[in-house]
Amino acid sequence: MSDASASAFGVGWLGLSGAKVMIAGAGGLGGECAKAFAEAGAQVAIADQNGARLDQIAADLGNKCTRIMEDLSEPDSARDAVLHANRALGGLDVLIHAVGINIRKPVLEFEPQEWYRIQKVNMDSAFWLAQAAGRIMVNQKSGRIVIISSVSGLLAHANHAPYAATKGALNQMMRVMAREWAPFGVTVNSVAPGYIETDLTQAYLDQDNHRQALSEMVPAGRLGTPRELTGPIMFLASPQSSFVTGHVLYVDGGRTLV
Ligand SMILES: NC(=O)c1ccc[n+]([C@@H]2O[C@H](COP(=O)([O-])OP(=O)(O)OC[C@H]3O[C@@H](n4cnc5c(N)ncnc54)[C@H](O)[C@@H]3O)[C@@H](O)[C@H]2O)c1
Repeated sequence: MSDASASAFGVGWLGLSGAKVMIAGAGGLGGECAKAFAEAGAQVAIADQNGARLDQIAADLGNKCTRIMEDLSEPDSARDAVLHANRALGGLDVLIHAVGINIRKPVLEFEPQEWYRIQKVNMDSAFWLAQAAGRIMVNQKSGRIVIISSVSGLLAHANHAPYAATKGALNQMMRVMAREWAPFGVTVNSVAPGYIETDLTQAYLDQDNHRQALSEMVPAGRLGTPRELTGPIMFLASPQSSFVTGHVLYVDGGRTLV
């Protein structure tokens, strides 16, 4: 086996053909998810505040997706985005949350507005999107929600305090949603990646010796690729994971083992 991507094995067994999937966040990971779900035969709606990113992904998908431009950190906009996706897709089976920002600096240097901005983008968007999607899914008695967390929600990475706080909080928020909605056939899980090269990480990895130093901390000896996230995310979004809820699935080449 040379390639860990789901498509190397065929994705038909996941049962995602025709699934109605909303992906919040059109960055490196959200964009890759949009392509992977579309390849699996799902109908995709993708939401972001960045119109250029949405256009790029829509073009990659042959314009066969719904694009929704909203600031997803605002409760009303997040709810409107979910209702828009539900309307455009004719229902909602899956929500993927792939919105996030980070600012890297020591605890002693953070300003209040930086702390609040990271909380708002990373956590508020997840809460209000998942609440709106959960309302639809609880009512229809089925659904899958996958939140992209991070190894930072577990490990104490220096210079990551607000980001790490949001990722730990997202895992706990996910667990409570999983418990409340399990009786209704709705599962809620997190996928927690290690370092993956996207716009979120590239500038940092390009600085000094960061790429090599971080690779050396991973037992697999390298960083991950966006495509290596899509298989685990699609499994948790699929009918195959119907009895899996409240988990944090680390996708990190073994980073959290050491
Ligand atoms: N790349 C990694 O190494 C890595 C590792 C662990 C976790 N993650 C997590 O994965 C998720 C996706 O990260 P990525 O690497 O794709 O990052 P990215 O920067 O490529 O994409 C993030 C997207 O979020 C969007 N966004 C930011 N604020 C928004 C808002 N208020 N409303 C709507 N959209 C908004 C941005 O426009 C961007 O398209 C994030 O939650 C991130 O924390 C990434």
